[in-house]
Amino acid sequence: MDCPHCDGSGFVFDEEKRKSYPCKCRPARLARKRAAAVAGRIPKTYRGVSFDREPLPSIERSHPHVVREVRRYCGSIAEQLDQGRGLWFTGPPGTGKTTLAMLISRHAMEADRTCAIYSLPRLLAMLRETFRDDSPHSLSQLVDMLCSVDLLHIDDVGAEQTTPWVLEQLYTVVNTRYEDQRAIVVTTNLIGTGESGGDDELRAQIGDRTVSRLYEMCGDPFPMFGSDRRLEKQFNLPEPVQASSTPNPFYDGDMDEDRPRYGWAP
Ligand SMILES: Nc1ncnc2c1ncn2[C@@H]1O[C@H](COP(=O)(O)OP(=O)(O)OP(=O)(O)O)[C@@H](O)[C@H]1O
Ligand SMILES: [Mg+2]
Repeated sequence: MDCPHCDGSGFVFDEEKRKSYPCKCRPARLARKRAAAVAGRIPKTYRGVSFDREPLPSIERSHPHVVREVRRYCGSIAEQLDQGRGLWFTGPPGTGKTTLAMLISRHAMEADRTCAIYSLPRLLAMLRETFRDDSPHSLSQLVDMLCSVDLLHIDDVGAEQTTPWVLEQLYTVVNTRYEDQRAIVVTTNLIGTGESGGDDELRAQIGDRTVSRLYEMCGDPFPMFGSDRRLEKQFNLPEPVQASSTPNPFYDGDMDEDRPRYGWAP
């Protein structure tokens, strides 16, 4: 980014004294760099997600109220992020929770905000891996990074096995974001919807203190109902199409060069 004081390096060079000094822009530059290290990319499956493309119109038909709120949120994304307001979605598998959360992340990135997208199992594994000798980051660097992005999207808060130590680190991340008013978007299937409602399972899984902060930052979770659309999709696979030419086995241009589905890997 251009800076009126330095050449963009974050240092000002004093020619007389032949010394360089950190520029005023350096702290912001470092913060952006830290955020960029965890800045997420939308996983391939959800990359084209948009309000006017399937499955959004279908989700809107079954959950008009939820999609209305997501639309409102995305329409004022800068303001929502500045105020640290998040959203969360709960419900059984295949009901569109991740799709809606990815839509929010996409809007955040399009508004030039930094955004980290992780599944909770991946996030917990990364926290654990900071203890490995070959880990590229220390625990505090990782926690700093997770706290400095404008939006932290934690997907799939489910029934993974973990340790009290790891949950404590998760709490630190959520609590720091809570104190700094930085937004979080979460998807989970651990809060019952309807009659079976209740968040005991979620509280048992990630701890009361973390859950209570999520309520304060994200309000009440939006319940998503219905059957597993992922399974339905499998039953409706299109007819196979005859290839018009023999595929070139050495052409890998169609391969997705992405790193793992969720977030960055060391
Ligand atoms: N209402 C819907 N209509 C049509 N397709 C849908 C609908 N909801 C979800 N889908 C499709 O089902 C698949 C799963 O959606 P998604 O990943 O958003 O579900 P999820 O609720 O996050 O599931 P899980 O709890 O297993 O993570 C996607 O391919 C999505 O396009
Ligand atoms: Mg999901």
